[in-house]
Amino acid sequence: MSKLNLESAFALKGSSLKMPVLGFGVYNSPADVTKASVLAALRAGYRHIDCAQYYENEQQVGEAVREWIAKDGGKREQVFFTTKILSPASSEDETLKSLRQSVDKANLDGYVDCFLIHTPTSGTEGRKHLWNALKKLRDEGKAKVIGVSNYGVKHLEEMVAAGETPAINQIEIHPWCQQKPIVDFCQKHGIVLQAYCPIVRGAYAGDPLLNELADKYKVSWAQVLLRWSLQKGYSPLPKSDTPSRIVSNADLYSFELEQADVDRLDQCDKGAAGAVGPNPVECA
Ligand SMILES: NC(=O)c1ccc[n+]([C@@H]2O[C@H](COP(=O)([O-])OP(=O)(O)OC[C@H]3O[C@@H](n4cnc5c(N)ncnc54)[C@H](OP(=O)(O)O)[C@@H]3O)[C@@H](O)[C@H]2O)c1
Repeated sequence: MSKLNLESAFALKGSSLKMPVLGFGVYNSPADVTKASVLAALRAGYRHIDCAQYYENEQQVGEAVREWIAKDGGKREQVFFTTKILSPASSEDETLKSLRQSVDKANLDGYVDCFLIHTPTSGTEGRKHLWNALKKLRDEGKAKVIGVSNYGVKHLEEMVAAGETPAINQIEIHPWCQQKPIVDFCQKHGIVLQAYCPIVRGAYAGDPLLNELADKYKVSWAQVLLRWSLQKGYSPLPKSDTPSRIVSNADLYSFELEQADVDRLDQCDKGAAGAVGPNPVECA
């Protein structure tokens, strides 16, 4: 494994753009708090923010990035901003309008780095419709890369059969829900995996193995989980509105889990029963 650091980034299929490995999630971050959290995240070194239309805080993420550029000397191109669309509108043109509205809300030099289909739940035709609209947005230069989220193997196979490969698939991944069939498929096809709920929303804070490892490496249980995600080759997207946690969740590069400890965490997989996120998962 090459040495990881805050600047580590993934190459993305079909693009010269790189995606910083560590992301910052803003789901459930109230709109009046998001700006301060994202600004704190940028100041702590995160350069990748994960948002969605559904989270209703695209505008506030954009405000934070613009403030960071104005006050801290940051540059737009240093930040990888992702948003997502949930479902198709009445026509592809109407869907395209909705995508453009997100770009306008974020107001980040007229483009987003990445636009994802949030879930595959709109059926074969709906998925095609959303993908076509995203391709048009990309052709307009308003999204640099496009991808999917919560796609299972069958949805990904459907895309590959149609000659399309998303750059990214964002799914729930942590030791208790590892989604191995999807991970294998994505790795085989060069699709970067973003891991949501990487700290399992705190559900395993009291887990004995996690606490043993936290003591061993002198870090928090959350840092153990985030380091596991990094070492597995995923892009974890921890969310926090707590300033001290925003900082500690990015402090992941002064320790490395021994392979034997990664292997022990690998044994925790409970398949679908281990999932805490909102979407159905596909497990081995
Ligand atoms: N594509 C999808 O369908 C989908 C689904 C779910 C999530 N996501 C994305 O993935 C991101 C992360 O997932 P998530 O927010 O559901 O779960 P998560 O990041 O696993 O957990 C977030 C929760 O953990 C708390 N927390 C954060 N750092 C902590 C620490 N060091 N110690 C103890 N508690 C800590 C947060 O509280 P405080 O905020 O109070 O600190 C928050 O309640 C989301 O924000 C979103 O961007 C995508």
